[in-house]
Amino acid sequence: MKNIVVLVSGGGTNLQALIDAEKSGIIKNGKITCVISSNPDAYALERAKNNNIPTRIIPRKNYSDSVSYSHAVLDALNAEKADLIVLAGFMIILDECITKAYDYKIINVHPALIPSFCGEGYYGLKVHEKALEYGVKVSGATVHFVNEKADAGAIILQKAVEVKSGDTPEVLQKRIMEQAEWKILPQAVSLFCQDKIDIIDGKAYVRD
Ligand code: GAR
Repeated sequence: MKNIVVLVSGGGTNLQALIDAEKSGIIKNGKITCVISSNPDAYALERAKNNNIPTRIIPRKNYSDSVSYSHAVLDALNAEKADLIVLAGFMIILDECITKAYDYKIINVHPALIPSFCGEGYYGLKVHEKALEYGVKVSGATVHFVNEKADAGAIILQKAVEVKSGDTPEVLQKRIMEQAEWKILPQAVSLFCQDKIDIIDGKAYVRD
């Protein structure tokens, strides 16, 4: 059974999807053992507490730079004996001290079809604002491994979602969460926990 540590910053609907998937048996061979928040007021913390999952709060504002912050998170991940780290609406780019220590053990959900609308500055609602500004007819979500570059690690799963005329960023965000993120994130976690993801030449391949 793998220890899954989930990093959050906000509402935590993706965390909720993971909790529900663990309860219903969609996640095989993995258990959420800790939730770490960069934001003391994140509603995600309530979701963890309601499900008796231990929490840690490591506020970003207590650290002067990304490197010292990442070292504090790294200490917590080591103490929790994390086998898999899931960034579920975690709004901070982690320093390579973490991505190197947990190579191919950190996954992130991004609310667009990478390589579109991703990288530094593309997070949360901004991603959907940019997609609507561009006028794309299809967007979606991506689950990928995390490396030292923002949103640039090997892609594990993607799911496309239709953009409809009249969509606002909020409406599109909700559709992408419901139809894509809340499905492919638990699927990817389960695949990882069952050792069903192979890495060949820097690309991820899912085994049946
Ligand atoms: C989700 O849409 C997630 O994909 C996105 O923020 C939202 C968090 O919602 N993450 C990023 O943009 C990271 N680059 P949640 O807190 O309800 O899961």
